[in-house]
Amino acid sequence: MTAPVRSGPVTTSNAAVRFDDVAVRFVTRRKTTDAVAGVTLDVAPREFVAVLGPSGCGKSTLLKVAAGLVRPFRGSAHLLGRAVTAPQREIGFVFQRAALLEWRSTRGNILLQAEIRRMDRRAAEKRADELIELTGLRGFENAYPHELSGGMQQRVSLCRALLHRPPVLLMDEPFGALDALTREQMNVELHRIWQETGTSVLFVTHSIPEAFYLANRVVVMTARPGTIAEIFQVDLPTERNYAQTMSSSTLADLGGRARSLLGATAHTE
Ligand SMILES: Nc1ncnc2c1ncn2[C@@H]1O[C@H](COP(=O)(O)OP(=O)(O)OP(=O)(O)O)[C@@H](O)[C@H]1O
Ligand SMILES: [Mg+2]
Repeated sequence: MTAPVRSGPVTTSNAAVRFDDVAVRFVTRRKTTDAVAGVTLDVAPREFVAVLGPSGCGKSTLLKVAAGLVRPFRGSAHLLGRAVTAPQREIGFVFQRAALLEWRSTRGNILLQAEIRRMDRRAAEKRADELIELTGLRGFENAYPHELSGGMQQRVSLCRALLHRPPVLLMDEPFGALDALTREQMNVELHRIWQETGTSVLFVTHSIPEAFYLANRVVVMTARPGTIAEIFQVDLPTERNYAQTMSSSTLADLGGRARSLLGATAHTE
């Protein structure tokens, strides 16, 4: 599979996601919260960008800005070259919890995406089959969520997010609730799926190893109101062996730097 390419500078017109000086302020009757203070960042086509940052620094908010679910009070977001002014349909969104419908099977939950988007049924079923294969869910097509492990539920959620072949995938701590071994396995699978589908990914996580294993670039944010503290370019081969990556000097070096940055920026509220 082709490696992610960054040919030439990323511009508004060719970036998968672009934030230009995005600031977000939430005003409720009780208080005003500056969640994000001015983030400028782009995700190139086929790129995988991971975002690390202390709790409450505005990571989820940034994903919502890209998805058109939250409006910045300053700056702008672009998705695939178009200004984001309303909820976006091109994206796939994976949440921390799988959020599956209990009364629907694996297949039924995946095909929900097709119903919402009124996709051609036959094409959607074919794609669902491919994704079931790709994510190792074969044999569990007719199982209900309560019959699946947490990791399998999250795979169903991933299939649902990928069904319409989104050029952009937004993922908000998708593996946060999984045990360490399942999480590793999901990391390896996501890495493979990303290579195979060629989608651009903006991925929020609290795990430093996860970020560096998966991403081409890792963004470390400051405490709220979140800004970018540093962006790390990850010069690891695209074909990544999990164990080798974990014991690599790149991870020790970059991960260590990210860890001390996060320690220095964590707030004590
Ligand atoms: N709809 C909202 N109304 C008011 N305040 C909000 C809203 N959404 C988020 N906030 C506030 O904005 C700040 C950033 O929230 P956000 O969920 O983006 O943080 P986060 O970095 O994703 O944190 P975590 O790592 O804990 O998930 C927080 O202080 C939060 O309370
Ligand atoms: Mg969050």
